Amino acid sequence: MKVTTITGDVQEIVTELLVLPLFEGETQLAGDIEAVDRALAGGVSDLLASGDFRGKAEEMALLYSRGMVPARRLLLLGLGKRDEYALDTLRRAAGVVARRARDLGATHYHIAADSLWAGLEPAAAAQALAEGTILGGYRFLAHKTDLSGEKPALESCTLLAPEGDEFSALSQGLADGVIIAEAVCQARDLINQPGNHCTPTLLARTAQTLAAETGLHCEVLDREQMTQLGMTALLAVAQGSAEPPQFIILEHNAGRDDLPTYVVVGKGLTFDSGGISIKPSDGMEAMKYDMAGAAATLGTLRAVAKLNLPLHVVGLVPATENLPSGQAYKPGDVIKSMSGLTIEVISTDAEGRVILADALTYANRFQPKGVVDLATLTGACVVALGHVACGLLGNNGELVTALKQAAEQSGERAWELPTYKEYAEQLKSDIADIKNVGGRPGGTITGGLFVGKFAQNYPWAHLDIAGMMDSDKTDGYWVKGGMGFGVRLLVQWLRNLS
Ligand code: BES
Ligand code: MN
Ligand code: ZN
Repeated sequence: MKVTTITGDVQEIVTELLVLPLFEGETQLAGDIEAVDRALAGGVSDLLASGDFRGKAEEMALLYSRGMVPARRLLLLGLGKRDEYALDTLRRAAGVVARRARDLGATHYHIAADSLWAGLEPAAAAQALAEGTILGGYRFLAHKTDLSGEKPALESCTLLAPEGDEFSALSQGLADGVIIAEAVCQARDLINQPGNHCTPTLLARTAQTLAAETGLHCEVLDREQMTQLGMTALLAVAQGSAEPPQFIILEHNAGRDDLPTYVVVGKGLTFDSGGISIKPSDGMEAMKYDMAGAAATLGTLRAVAKLNLPLHVVGLVPATENLPSGQAYKPGDVIKSMSGLTIEVISTDAEGRVILADALTYANRFQPKGVVDLATLTGACVVALGHVACGLLGNNGELVTALKQAAEQSGERAWELPTYKEYAEQLKSDIADIKNVGGRPGGTITGGLFVGKFAQNYPWAHLDIAGMMDSDKTDGYWVKGGMGFGVRLLVQWLRNLS
């Protein structure tokens, strides 16, 4: 879908649908909306006076212009109270509008821009608008064979901007937002694909295709190469599955020693049954989403390449299934990780941290300035933070602060958890260097600290995105299913660094 801007006049634009944003309680009309109201002989004022539309955030009211302006339909869009207006208000409203436009069959629509960046940076507002539009209009139809009940896809959303200094900032912001949102949509597509389609091999092929399209450098290690490197922990998790594991390495600005290196690592469990420590069958189908970290990593690298950030950015994805079988790893097993540290397996269902151990050891070879892992690591994180924020912890205050700031800016929230040394003590093993489960108390923290044990040579942070892997409802710019959480946050972090 195209999201672009033109300068133009709301009274002259020929369109299927013209969206007119309005703040709550502002009955004194001005600018674009006042111009339209005049052309409609007070049609908008009448509606406001009736009290049927108040301008609450995401509230909408549809009017038919009946030839009084060339736009066929007018959609009043509430932005809420002006003093509560924020980027996420706009992002959410844009998502709601995209779905309404599609329901109306308006594949091309226009938005009057003159009040959209009130109090916000024009470029940031435009980026949020593009993100909300594309994310809110997202659908996953790959496995529907009967599309007769589906509305045609949206094709364009055009911002009608006044002539002036903001125009180039708006157009740049839209372009950035489109890149970022399309990267999130690619992540959503991967997350939504079921486990029999989205295998480790599909993740690897997707990374290779992405590299061919964007100029990223891509390497994929197979089982044999992993064996040579000593990735025994990753291989232990994979050994119960007939699907070959893959270790994906994607690089932007590969080989540029003059640029600082940052590494993103994504947990790529294309299906997590729990293994021998098998999960209850009720709801197990959601564990196809256990590669949401991997999907966000590929999405981040895609956006970083398209934005051409002046950084060396590496994406690492350890990808496998976790299944029970005669060859599967077992509770009680001790495995030697690539780092040399031995791991006692208490639960085969705490597999994410085990594969991340080897990925974080592999990250050492890039001598990174910072490493962030994204993982659907613990059910405990869903209990702690719900579906509102991801968990955040790390070994470096500056990195954690930078991520908190990026979370704030991007609207993808992250909440810091403490890392008191008592938590790490829960991971002491009687017979190995560390065990993979530290008990139920503080489960998100002990899970994160297990991962951090393999990140000792560089600044590292961990995002537990278990609560953010999928949404159970369509709301604002969220669409039921895979969220693609983490792409916006990490791209913002990397943009701040560049
Ligand atoms: N992928 C799961 C975590 C998860 C659970 C993500 C629910 C999203 C929703 C992870 O591999 C897992 O099974 N973790 C265990 C860890 C435990 C055995 C220490 C968990 O949370 O129960
Ligand atoms: Mn598990
Ligand atoms: Zn898992």
